[in-house]
Amino acid sequence: MCGIVGYAGSGNAPQILVEALKRLEYRGYDSSGIALHEKNGLTIHKKQGRITVMEEALPKLAATVGIGHTRWATHGEPSDANAHPQVDSSGDIAVIHNGTLENYADLRSGMEAAGIKFNSGTDTEVLPHLIERHYDGDLLTAVRTALGDVTGAYAIAVLHAAHPGEIVAARNESPLVIGFGEGEHFIASDAPAIVKYTQRVAYVRNGELVCLTADSVEISDMAGNIREPEIEELDWSFEDSERGGYAHYMLKEIFEQPRALQESLLPTLAEAIIDGLDLNWRIGSISIVACGTSLHAGMVGKYVIEQLTAIPVNVCHASEFRYSPPVQNVGGMLSARPLVVLISQSGETADTLAAARVARQQGSHTVAICNVGGSSLARNVDGILLTHAGPEIGVAATKTFLVQMQALYMLAVHLAYSRKGIDLPQLRRWEQELRKLPHYVGQVLERRSVITKLANSLTQASSLFFIGRNLGYPIALEGALKLKEISYLHAEGYPAGELKHGPLALLSPQTPVIAIASQDHTHAKLVSNMEEVAARKAPLLVVAQEGDADALRLSERVITLPASDPVLMPFTAGVALQLLAYHVAEELGCDIDKPRNLAKSVTVE
Ligand code: F6R
Repeated sequence: MCGIVGYAGSGNAPQILVEALKRLEYRGYDSSGIALHEKNGLTIHKKQGRITVMEEALPKLAATVGIGHTRWATHGEPSDANAHPQVDSSGDIAVIHNGTLENYADLRSGMEAAGIKFNSGTDTEVLPHLIERHYDGDLLTAVRTALGDVTGAYAIAVLHAAHPGEIVAARNESPLVIGFGEGEHFIASDAPAIVKYTQRVAYVRNGELVCLTADSVEISDMAGNIREPEIEELDWSFEDSERGGYAHYMLKEIFEQPRALQESLLPTLAEAIIDGLDLNWRIGSISIVACGTSLHAGMVGKYVIEQLTAIPVNVCHASEFRYSPPVQNVGGMLSARPLVVLISQSGETADTLAAARVARQQGSHTVAICNVGGSSLARNVDGILLTHAGPEIGVAATKTFLVQMQALYMLAVHLAYSRKGIDLPQLRRWEQELRKLPHYVGQVLERRSVITKLANSLTQASSLFFIGRNLGYPIALEGALKLKEISYLHAEGYPAGELKHGPLALLSPQTPVIAIASQDHTHAKLVSNMEEVAARKAPLLVVAQEGDADALRLSERVITLPASDPVLMPFTAGVALQLLAYHVAEELGCDIDKPRNLAKSVTVE
């Protein structure tokens, strides 16, 4: 999704903005641009394509204040004209925008009828014209009034030629963070953009505006009430968000998983584990709500929570949950408030945020499992279970998936213990098992060379199936998602038992099947499914635990996982499939960290 940065200080603004935009590349984009305050007014430089294309076209500039943008097209194709900043008729007002304006078409046709000429196909272009209309010498007031005319989601930043040194920014739904340096200030969509310059940040809230200069930051709301910024110190540094010798962020992040698990594990699960909400009430049901990889973590969590607590759990796509009919309390049948667990690494996914809002409106308790403390989701739920994977830059989620699953296991164990479903020795055994996770994951990482060889045998596939049962099923879904998003090969995840209800018709020597063989009560059934695959001459690759004789009998291609309690297999198999997807994509020469059409933070619906 689009990325926003802004700088006011005494440094070289174009260099700082370009550098900061590069740190937001992971969000996905198709064009970039900057606007600078210069002696004779504003200058705009924007280009379709990679940031380097815009950078190479930049003349030497000495400006010290400016704004920058990476665009991920929503309204209007990727092009120089549609890139941001967008300007008003005089070219004195420049606006960058992340989000979508719902009423832009009405506003635009009204303006066009009044003779205003539009130069782009974007929704954003209405904003500089609106600001121009309301401008009366005070930029902040003009922006505030203009925002009163629009509906939709936005984070914006605005420059006006008559206000050198000043940036006005605002947010509604799309994220925005302020960075506090020495004699300089920053704004950005996400902290990795500015962490090279400062670790002191404050998050802008929905409905707030910021007026920023080198020396001052003023936050106000739509009514003009001032709020003091709440400055926080980031607990990760620039080095944490660098590639550190790895060919891609994705690979680096796969290898960071043992540490991420270690840092996210709570010292004990006997006491409260959710910040801001105790769980000592009768939980009638749990809904886990998320998107993409986070949803797959939620599906793994469902099995474990239901096994340990007997509380019914349903797992919902956030995009469906947000429009589901309100829960009716028919005849008092819902005697206990439901718990809704929202999972999001970024905490900025539009559908998940909307689902949190709906859940609260419906009277549910809400808990977020999230990797970003100051995110919108973290601040709009009753309780939070924070994961500590550090920044994840690669578009494909890897380390955050593992810590999300770990958080759900911790939640399951805590709920089971606090409801007397397990006793203290059992709780301690679980804690011990969870402490072994970094070690098991480390062992999978050591088997990378075997996985690389197997990956090479998959690159010519016309389509791939990932199958699993029980805890292996969500991992099959995740394996397929990881592969398709970074390698562009078509892949589907299936419950192994469903193969014969349709997909078997597609099997051939060109459609490899990857089976996730959990050593649990479903193992024998999965072996039958693998036999069915082998009988159709589809190449079979098995992800199995050490000592799985069936796997070795049925296929020469086996990724062996360390022998662990089968309940921990989603972690080891998950990592093996991440490496498999990575090496297939690498062999195919794909843009692994920035797959086409995808964005890291999906901040529009
Ligand atoms: C896949 C991937 C996406 C995200 C999804 C939700 O690798 O990264 O499927 O998992 O967009 O994102 P968050 O967790 O930020 O809400």
